[in-house]
Amino acid sequence: MGMVLVYCFCCALLMAIVLREFKKRNQEKKRANLPPGSMGWPYIGETLQLYTQNPDIFFASRQKRHGEIFKTSILGCPCVMVASPEAVRFVLVKQACLFKPSYPPSKEKLIGPSAIFFHQGIYHNQLRKLVQASLSFDVIRNLVPHIEAIAISALESWSSTSGKVFNTFYEMKKFTFDAAVLSIFGSLDTCYGENLKRNYYILDKGYNSFPTHLPGTLYTKSVMARRRLSRILSQIIRERKKKGLVRKDLLGFLLNFKDANGEALSNDQIIDNILGVLFAAQDTTASLLTWILKYIHDDSKLFEAIKIEQTAIYESNGRGKNPLTWSQTRNMPITNRVIMESLRLASIISFTFREATQDVEYKGFLIPKGWKVLPLFRNIHHNPDFFTDPHVFNPSRFEVVPKPNTFMPFGNGVHACPGNEFAKLEMLILIHHLVTKFRWEVVGSANEVQYDPFPVPQQGLQAKFWKESTSTAVHHL
Ligand code: HEM
Repeated sequence: MGMVLVYCFCCALLMAIVLREFKKRNQEKKRANLPPGSMGWPYIGETLQLYTQNPDIFFASRQKRHGEIFKTSILGCPCVMVASPEAVRFVLVKQACLFKPSYPPSKEKLIGPSAIFFHQGIYHNQLRKLVQASLSFDVIRNLVPHIEAIAISALESWSSTSGKVFNTFYEMKKFTFDAAVLSIFGSLDTCYGENLKRNYYILDKGYNSFPTHLPGTLYTKSVMARRRLSRILSQIIRERKKKGLVRKDLLGFLLNFKDANGEALSNDQIIDNILGVLFAAQDTTASLLTWILKYIHDDSKLFEAIKIEQTAIYESNGRGKNPLTWSQTRNMPITNRVIMESLRLASIISFTFREATQDVEYKGFLIPKGWKVLPLFRNIHHNPDFFTDPHVFNPSRFEVVPKPNTFMPFGNGVHACPGNEFAKLEMLILIHHLVTKFRWEVVGSANEVQYDPFPVPQQGLQAKFWKESTSTAVHHL
């Protein structure tokens, strides 16, 4: 009898151990579930599919197959893509501390490792306050007449040679560069301005090229231009310090900063952040403006509506004799909705990159430490559940506020764009002068998309510009 009892006890114990082990493994298995999706071929993953297909189709087909979160592998990096408002909010806002910004080292080297968008935590927070201060309403409202002067000069130059065909994107890049310089330095001596522009353009050209140090390559030229930019910016900083000027521009805020221990920013930190803001400001705004010109050009009724809105302002300013005012730029509802709809449809920042700093679980899926995480803004902006007929350009949809977290052209959370209002202001001012005094015509086809690296209409939208004769200025031809 005793033996039977011992036997039963041992069996029960064994069973309990087996059950516990089974439960534990089951739990581990549950916890260790990676999101669905294919990692493609060893090392190259799905890189070829991404680069040979339209990226819209690449991401949308996977989302359709796997749902709001799926895995893939691009350029040797395992990635998790997130494509629902809730999942994107989880990564960028709710659990932002578990994900850090992630950029290739070659790009960090060109912009400068101390630039705001490579950082997280206290340093990022301090810089963000400075960048935000330089782009606050109080500061940018004073920039209206200066941005106006840059916009008018750009438009005059495009329309001065009759019949000349321009690459609109490249022209817009000149405009947005000059506007960004304004917000960073206020006014800048012409010789510094030209030198800065020349070298920044070389840097920009090599930014997306293959990072090799072979002489003569775009990347090497870019690295050399970066060194020259450091010298130019050091000179500008030295001169500003010597003059002892206190200005409310980005350079002024960066120079005046002292942390809790009374430490100022180093020269390198200031330079990296000037180049960082220039970089964040130029191509983004230029590519959106290019899309806006295409969308307005393709829809004569829309052109008419914007022209009526802007002509009323133009007339009230004595047909352009008086400058635009800040409050006029805050009251352009139709033009504003055109900008919002362009931000949605063109979704020029299709996604951003983060990296998991530890194993993270989201709805039972594991995002392993070190994996890249890509919030897919474009998929959300083009999802019919949030935007009816998502591929149709329809600014009036913005008469109603979009559902929360479904419209994020400027990102979300601690790294959300601090330049959004400045970007909108530049665009409103340029559109005001464009539609009231000029006309443009797209030359050739602009139906394909080119990645530069932001999406732009093919060949940057080839277009001719001309000045409208005063007699027809208020009528759409
Ligand atoms: C249409 C124009 C623009 C678009 C669509 C845009 C979009 C974005 C997005 C989506 C982010 C967040 C990226 C992320 O979370 O990883 C961002 C960050 C940033 N943007 Fe913009 N941006 C535009 C114009 C500008 C302008 C004009 C400036 C400055 C004058 C600017 C300065 C910045 C900076 C400094 C950051 C980094 C913020 C941080 O890391 O805390 N952007 N932008």
